[in-house]
Amino acid sequence: MTATETPILEFLDNHPAAGDFHADVLAGLAARPKRLAPKYFYDKVGSELFDRITELPEYYPTRTEIGILEAAAGEIAELCGPKPLLLEYGSGSSRKIRILLEALAGRDARYVAIDISKQHLLESVAALAEEFPAVAVYAVCADYSKPYPLPPSALEGAGRRVAFFPGSTIGNFSPSEAVGFLCNTAQTIGPGGSLLIGVDLDKDARILDAAYDDAAGVTAAFNLNLLRRINRELDADFDLGAFEHKAFYNRPAGRVEMHLASLRDQQVRVGEAVFGFAAGETIHTENSHKFTLEGFQRLAEQAGFRPVRVWTDPDGLFSLHWLDVR
Ligand code: AVI
Repeated sequence: MTATETPILEFLDNHPAAGDFHADVLAGLAARPKRLAPKYFYDKVGSELFDRITELPEYYPTRTEIGILEAAAGEIAELCGPKPLLLEYGSGSSRKIRILLEALAGRDARYVAIDISKQHLLESVAALAEEFPAVAVYAVCADYSKPYPLPPSALEGAGRRVAFFPGSTIGNFSPSEAVGFLCNTAQTIGPGGSLLIGVDLDKDARILDAAYDDAAGVTAAFNLNLLRRINRELDADFDLGAFEHKAFYNRPAGRVEMHLASLRDQQVRVGEAVFGFAAGETIHTENSHKFTLEGFQRLAEQAGFRPVRVWTDPDGLFSLHWLDVR
């Protein structure tokens, strides 16, 4: 079945102009310290590697959040009330949304998947629409970090609007980007709306270091794949054997940092531009912020939310927050 023959009710294409990968890479490699944005990890291979990361023994967030969702699903369904309009930001977490949609059976739920990747979005909503015929399914292709319109027919007669943002992706934003994202979300769901968000918690550095530098080297391959993507898409000549993956918890900054460290003095060409690397110099590729429960709630309050309920796993590794728009 192709995407157009599926029982999706409505597809709203609000696709943003393609980000300027080339300009961002040139600016990031010219910066001191050098940096690249983590959103560029997710080409086809990068997305596949990320899926493998979520199954690694050391990467606890995904399975822990699923466990919390399974335990809390009945209570979440009660909080959603009748005819909820569920908005999922980033439609990749199929196992997680299935837990919620199963718990919402009989409540006349509507589901809107919002994702920047059209292909991925259409594939994931097509499967969900088939699996949950009683749920009205909508797809919106948009950059959800900015305001975007919702399909009018999804809003008509709907109950509470509930935004779902699992996976602790909020941790990949800087603190000011996180507040900006939460403000936009509050505006989109409006008064009476709620946000259900997964947030990774601060913990022993050894657990965090292992989660981002696994023994099988999958996270290293995920990080290095960014250089392979630059070589392929931007006519560059990074020698992948001359860089190594580095990940560590920076406790004062409250974040795991990922870097690619140059193993020797070298020059790298990207198109016409040439960048020098000293041995040991790094490209900072990702921050993954870790929170305390209170620290995250304070951030959410700054953005206009009222914390209502929080669930954690027995080991206190991960948290799931229900927040109402004030
Ligand atoms: C997508 N994001 C929440 C992941 C994280 O844990 O920060 C990305 C990731 N990077 C390395 N491993 C996983």
